[in-house]
Amino acid sequence: MENMKHPLDAEYYLPAQEFFQQNAPTGLTYDDISLATRYSEILPRQANLETRISDSLTLQIPILSADMDTVTEADMAVAMSLNGGIGIIHYNMENRSQVKQVARVKHHIHGLIQEPVTIEPSLKVGDVLEIIERKNFNFRTFPVVEKTGKLIGLLSGSVVRERYRDIEVVKAMNPRERLLTLNEKNLQGDPIAAADKFFDENIGIHKVLVIDDEDRLKGLFTLSDVEQITAEKNSLLKPSRDSNFRLRVGAAVSAIRTEDGKIDRDETLSHIQNLVDEKVDCVAVSSAHAHTLGMGQVVKLIRGSFPDLTIIAGNVTSSAGVEFLAGCGANGIKVGQGPGSICTTRIVAGVGIPQLTAIHVASCEAAKLGVSIIADGGITKSGDMVKALTMANAVMLGSLLAGCRESPGEVIEINGQLYKQYRGMGSHAAMKAGSAARYGHEKTQVGRKIAAEGIEALKELSGPLDKILSEYIGGIQSGMGYLGAPTLPDLRRRARYIRVSHAGQRESMTHDVIEVKTPSEN
Ligand code: XMP
Repeated sequence: MENMKHPLDAEYYLPAQEFFQQNAPTGLTYDDISLATRYSEILPRQANLETRISDSLTLQIPILSADMDTVTEADMAVAMSLNGGIGIIHYNMENRSQVKQVARVKHHIHGLIQEPVTIEPSLKVGDVLEIIERKNFNFRTFPVVEKTGKLIGLLSGSVVRERYRDIEVVKAMNPRERLLTLNEKNLQGDPIAAADKFFDENIGIHKVLVIDDEDRLKGLFTLSDVEQITAEKNSLLKPSRDSNFRLRVGAAVSAIRTEDGKIDRDETLSHIQNLVDEKVDCVAVSSAHAHTLGMGQVVKLIRGSFPDLTIIAGNVTSSAGVEFLAGCGANGIKVGQGPGSICTTRIVAGVGIPQLTAIHVASCEAAKLGVSIIADGGITKSGDMVKALTMANAVMLGSLLAGCRESPGEVIEINGQLYKQYRGMGSHAAMKAGSAARYGHEKTQVGRKIAAEGIEALKELSGPLDKILSEYIGGIQSGMGYLGAPTLPDLRRRARYIRVSHAGQRESMTHDVIEVKTPSEN
């Protein structure tokens, strides 16, 4: 630990151990504390956000999207991974569907449009014009594909015009034998580099179709996408990829139980085997209370059969809970009971620990045992992330991501405002959809006699994940700049805390001004 240089600073701004002990038995959360600035030799943008969840799972940014049914399915997981984090696919769905969602992320190739809009050869150009109009497409070039999926041509945008309305697509298209294509076999390793090379070698071509050995259409690259991604390659943050260049993804799991409540070992392991076959990067064994006999049995069962799989388990809020889960074989422990924006556990059950104290207590034990800590729930701004990361290896976000374009669910319009649904996994609706076990109930029992521990809510639509994450990443890097911390382990070493009074909290917010908003560019 790096000491404060000046004795007076050292007296006021305390390291975690002393600070939380001196405040005990009061539990503290994000707004109760602030971090002291330290001498710095780095600019925020130089701060490196890489973090380790397990020996085999390193992320480029310390952010996981929550395994909730209104936060993470394949689209969110793809976007999270492209931005350097990881999404944990929720388990409120059939096991088969979850495996498919994992496969979708693992097979996603950035820049490759995997299911391009195609047209049938029997149409006329006029039909295509109508489709464009009806579906509001902003492109006019279409691969022409038989019902079997076999590629037979490309209808170029330059012939999709009124004057050619009566011509058949087969006559207007560029036929297969004149098309240059890429075989999907040749995309292995670095698909973008392969597409980039193709465009270099074929001057003037702006789109290339990807096919398999049977000449079935497998995707489409456009020059502009490839150029954009190639430019991004030099940026500081890289996508999270496994050793085979695939995006990383996690899946939430729980024990499958027989009718008499016992763990169905075969079914549970067979589902996890299916996820592993699709190369899932981690599983998260999620329960509101993970320091239990049942959770220990599940973690041990998985560890026994999958010695190399990264297991995240939680949630706990005690050193004993961390020791227990690590002892059962977990690599990463989720910490948080009741801090979540949609959680009512503390109100319903009277249980839970203010989140920063919980993270501190858990992280002391985790440091001894070499497991990682994921601060789960209650984060409302990037400053909270910085505070969490002074003790945890990563944060898990629900509410901050639920309004993104990539979160599951429809956009809802109310009085002209756009929203997305966000609900607790312990809400009645989510438990009915499958997550009851997470709260120790049977799905079939969910009704009035079972107390919900979460609410159903709405989040304002907040745009694409890239944009949201870049603000949070910038905020975390700012915090690291203020603490002179080039890496996250440095942030943990250099953090010093001060308690904030109510007046101090008010002072932290903007105050005594009328805010003027500059309209955003998009
Ligand atoms: P945020 O604050 O990011 O929290 O929205 C997300 C986390 O909240 C937890 N979670 C719940 N906790 N009742 C609870 O007590 C619930 O219904 C519930 N649903 C989710 C979960 O840990 C998630 O990551």
